Amino acid sequence: MKTRITELLGTRYPIVQGGMQNVGYAELAAAVSNAGGLGVITGLTQPTPEDLAKEIARCQQMTDQPFGVNLTLLPTIKPVPYDEYVQVIVDAGVKIVETAGRSPEPFMATFNQHGIKVIHKCTSVRHALKAEKLGCSAVSVDGFECAGHPGEDDVTNLVLLPAAARVLKIPMLASGGIGTGVQMAACLALGADGINMGTRFMATKEAPIHDNIKRAIVAASERDTALVYRPLRNTARVYKNKVAEQVNEIEREAGKDMKFELIRDMVAGTKGKVALSEGDIDHGIWTSGMVQGLIDSIPSCEELIQDIIGECQSTVRERLNALMA
Ligand SMILES: Cc1cc2nc3c(=O)[nH]c(=O)nc-3n(C[C@H](O)[C@H](O)[C@H](O)COP(=O)(O)O)c2cc1C
Repeated sequence: MKTRITELLGTRYPIVQGGMQNVGYAELAAAVSNAGGLGVITGLTQPTPEDLAKEIARCQQMTDQPFGVNLTLLPTIKPVPYDEYVQVIVDAGVKIVETAGRSPEPFMATFNQHGIKVIHKCTSVRHALKAEKLGCSAVSVDGFECAGHPGEDDVTNLVLLPAAARVLKIPMLASGGIGTGVQMAACLALGADGINMGTRFMATKEAPIHDNIKRAIVAASERDTALVYRPLRNTARVYKNKVAEQVNEIEREAGKDMKFELIRDMVAGTKGKVALSEGDIDHGIWTSGMVQGLIDSIPSCEELIQDIIGECQSTVRERLNALMA
């Protein structure tokens, strides 16, 4: 399947696995890349730049296909040595970076100098246009359905994707809420050149997280996510477990006086990490998107990508073509 995305990334299929904190290890990235998509290692899941260098080397041993590294530029409790992470990416010869959170502007000169293509993930048309202006090679446009940070505009992909496609010149990945081939066909029809998925790749055999989490995603409906940190204007869509419900309760009670300190301990990243690795669903906050309502299997990445591509093509060939008769 050829689109501007496969040509840009050198992949067989226009399918990208978005960066995922505590999930995007080399095992998953390599499995996605070997299956013809673009796997992405999550840079900041590695505690130090040296660890990232080792993780990239591990991935290079597991695949000879292109893969990328995600660099998330969000406010963190502990300052992150971003320049050092960028240097590791450059030195390792990685040629694709997914940025997200804030503008990648401070690092664009370095990326350009080393021929690194930047896919910037953003949640609005204005930020997508800004990324294009900065020289990013592509954007991932993340609708309100998405897992993680959907921004504060709350525009869903049925409107966001065609609105972005109208004005963008660079290739666009549709992101957020996608897990099936029917949806992929819809996204391509709406103007995307490919798709980016997070939650769907969590429920795969190779995702290095506990089976309890994968089973919880399969069991959950599209209504089982929660939006946390909304009063702090740093909204995140997460799996609706006991901790997320307690956070929402505290946010409701605090009203205008909501402060991060009130929930800091409950939402600690270390607790979410334990939930994912040990399968204790209610141990902390962990990320999952509305698409969980469409996920009913735990396939390998190869099976998943083949299934999505097959369903996408048959949707166009049979369902949509039938309308032309
Ligand atoms: C467990 C999990 C962790 C995530 N962590 C990050 C992250 O660290 N950085 C980032 O840019 N996006 C992160 N995301 C967002 C994904 O890259 C992707 O944009 C999103 O999952 C798309 O929505 P979907 O889950 O509906 O497919 C995360 C998503 C999940 C499910």
